Amino acid sequence: MDSFALVIFGITGNLAQIKLIPALYDMAEKGLLPKNMSVVGIARKVMNRDDFKKHFYDSLKTQNIHHQHEIKEEVFKDLADRIHYIDGHLDEPSFYKRLNEFLDKKGYKNRIYYLATYPDLYSHVFENLQKLGMNQQKSGWIRLMIEKPIGDNLKSAQSLNKLLLKYFKEDQIFRLDHYLGKETLQNILTFRFSNDIFEPMINKDYIDHIQITAAEEFGIGKRGGYYDLVGALKDVGQNHQLQMLAFATMDAPTEFKNEAVSKQRIKILENLKPMPEKIVFGQYEGYKNEPNVNPNSNTDTFYALKTYINNDRFKGVPIYIRAGKKLKQYVTEISIVFKNPKNRLFRDTNLGDEPNVLIYRIQPNEGIVLKMLTKEPGHQVKVKPEYMQYCYRTDPHGHLLPDPYERLLVDTIRGDHTFFNSAEEVEAQWAFTDPLSKVRGKPVIYKAGTWGPKEADKLLEDDSRAWLEPSMEFCRI
Ligand code: BG6
Repeated sequence: MDSFALVIFGITGNLAQIKLIPALYDMAEKGLLPKNMSVVGIARKVMNRDDFKKHFYDSLKTQNIHHQHEIKEEVFKDLADRIHYIDGHLDEPSFYKRLNEFLDKKGYKNRIYYLATYPDLYSHVFENLQKLGMNQQKSGWIRLMIEKPIGDNLKSAQSLNKLLLKYFKEDQIFRLDHYLGKETLQNILTFRFSNDIFEPMINKDYIDHIQITAAEEFGIGKRGGYYDLVGALKDVGQNHQLQMLAFATMDAPTEFKNEAVSKQRIKILENLKPMPEKIVFGQYEGYKNEPNVNPNSNTDTFYALKTYINNDRFKGVPIYIRAGKKLKQYVTEISIVFKNPKNRLFRDTNLGDEPNVLIYRIQPNEGIVLKMLTKEPGHQVKVKPEYMQYCYRTDPHGHLLPDPYERLLVDTIRGDHTFFNSAEEVEAQWAFTDPLSKVRGKPVIYKAGTWGPKEADKLLEDDSRAWLEPSMEFCRI
């Protein structure tokens, strides 16, 4: 591959520190950094190259739940040789001149610009890149990586997409939702479309309902400045959770290529029915005292909703989705709850009417698991729910799960859009979310360490159902 530079705007920010720098380290360790690749970090702070290398190293050494393995000195050395730093203010044209001169001097005609910075700086970046022709693919390729959320609602997402397309072509833009880079999400497609056992049952005839949970035990930490303007529904609901649903319910693409795969995801998103009367917003007790949070904030740190997919395959199958911070357990999963036929032979035996559940455990205890009923060994007929499981971490081949940022950086370098969002996809997500966020009033306050407000339970109780207690009994390390 020709030499190229990954230019990260906002290298000293939270995202770069906890996600991008560790992903680059992992790529270095696995030999995934192309030979002629350099990383150019941009931030306001004045630092020389040695200070910057120290910043990189310190970021890797900082405690990070997503990156807990050892930092090998020889790997870091290889990485450190490739990193450069340029300080500058993103709204200052002179900075771009310096950046361009640096990139030209080093011969980096191919460039990836990664926006790990505040959205209000985007237009400055685009405008200044354009002034110097730095967005144009004259002698090499130029790609742009931009993080979710794209916009704050449908209208602002449309404006941002329009702005992006003013400066870049759609195939230069990589809109990133890191959930699409999760191995555990991508495997849903392989599992569904390589095994022919379950797929014929993924429909309204066999499925009673679907539950999606994304629960975190921790609060917003130091991210109040961002989070208070966004809230749970827009932070993870509009994007990560809708993608989880799309992966679990989309039809098989005609081929495993970007257009075909995104087309099926988009079809699900476009068919989702927003039900503003069936959403509950919550806020954890003490949230208003978090740093950089408005003391009268009505921001949601939890939400639970009900929806349906308006297509023939899932007609009438309720879907319940919840996400929140400071909840009882750290767990993200999709549960496909199967119908329980009336004529089941052991139905009247103790636990004999428990449903079968197919669980895609995204994290922790990652795996794909089928909850099934078995006979408890002994002289009586007693039914016992057990798990049939594929677990990543106990995989005898010892495959470690690559971090989603690593996956998506590699895909961008390859120019593969399959696990990125198009403008159309992002807008379909907002079209579903907008009517829901409009009805957010005062959220219900819930205690930390619980499953959120009682009102969220009622959503299911009204349908004679209940949230499943996520089990930690399977895929234990
Ligand atoms: C981010 C959200 O996009 O996703 C965070 O901004 C959230 O608030 C995070 O904690 C969850 O990602 P993961 O990979 O830890 O499940």
